[in-house]
Amino acid sequence: MTVKQDFIKPVIWEGESIKLLNQQKLPGSVEYIFLTTAEDVWDAIVELKVRGAPAIGITAAYGLALWAKNSEAETTEELLQSLKKTADYLNSARPTAVNLAWALHRLVRVAEQQSTIPSIKGKLELEAIAIQREDEETCRLIGENGYSLLPEGANVLTHCNTGAIATSKYGTALGAFYIAKERGNEIHVYATETRPVLQGARLTAWELQQADIDVTLITDNMAAHVLKTKNIDAIIVGADRITANGDTANKIGTYGLALLAKAHDIPFYIAAPLSTIDLDTATGEDIVIEERKAEEVTHLGGQRIAPEGVQVFNPSFDVTPNELITAIITEKGVIRGDYQQELQKLF
Ligand code: MRU
Repeated sequence: MTVKQDFIKPVIWEGESIKLLNQQKLPGSVEYIFLTTAEDVWDAIVELKVRGAPAIGITAAYGLALWAKNSEAETTEELLQSLKKTADYLNSARPTAVNLAWALHRLVRVAEQQSTIPSIKGKLELEAIAIQREDEETCRLIGENGYSLLPEGANVLTHCNTGAIATSKYGTALGAFYIAKERGNEIHVYATETRPVLQGARLTAWELQQADIDVTLITDNMAAHVLKTKNIDAIIVGADRITANGDTANKIGTYGLALLAKAHDIPFYIAAPLSTIDLDTATGEDIVIEERKAEEVTHLGGQRIAPEGVQVFNPSFDVTPNELITAIITEKGVIRGDYQQELQKLF
């Protein structure tokens, strides 16, 4: 199977810099920025210039490889020590999406296996490139597996942005929609705007429009009404961390959608790569939920919409308990039932 769509690339490795699609500027303009230091990469992740679990992991991997390339350490010990510190620093940018830690650990492990400075630098670059390439293949398979669950002409609801720009290519939940398009299955997608920073309105609506996929934008508080009145066949969303028992952290609002899906007897699917599955974390209770700055809630497009001084709670993610998840779609297939057992089997 080949997906014919021309995808915009969110992360491009240039050898001496990372060319990054600035997602903060979408949909108004398609602008790339160049990252050359670990600080640039950290800022880009914190500021959501790059976002989406797999894309964050890929960017951080290139960031660490680039840092090592420019390091003036004189011994392998010195290089390894400061490499680990830099990995910890990059990992501190955002706590919830496990792909960030996963990609950085993968690079640190590779560095530890080398015995010379040139081989550390060379292998880190190759490993970061491999992570990005593997993600492409992985997302294509997730798309295929997700598509297999959709009826002809399906009405599907999705949340946040889980597309090509949140990964290396294709996306996870949106991957299923690209495959549908490719196969001539004219599905219809309802995209929630995804407050507070509107990844659904700014990014998913834009991305699906570019691909000529039939998309309707709704505000988050319209979801229940849409599920009740629009013959929705399925909800498909992504994930930032899936724990050993299948509990899933994803963009704030996902848990509410899962509850609504249950109330309306609509299948609720999570689409994610194995790099988002964290078997070292037992349950959703153990996931650190990122809280972001108040301005994301008090302001819209730079304009204040709430009174000065109001208290704000701004968790960026929530946790959907495993019992609300109909199935988890991965590159290795669709799993259901006892997630504790089934997730283990994937590794
Ligand atoms: O804050 P974001 O935009 O990084 O949150 C993104 C999500 O929650 C996505 O659903 C998730 O990372 C999966 S992306 C394929």
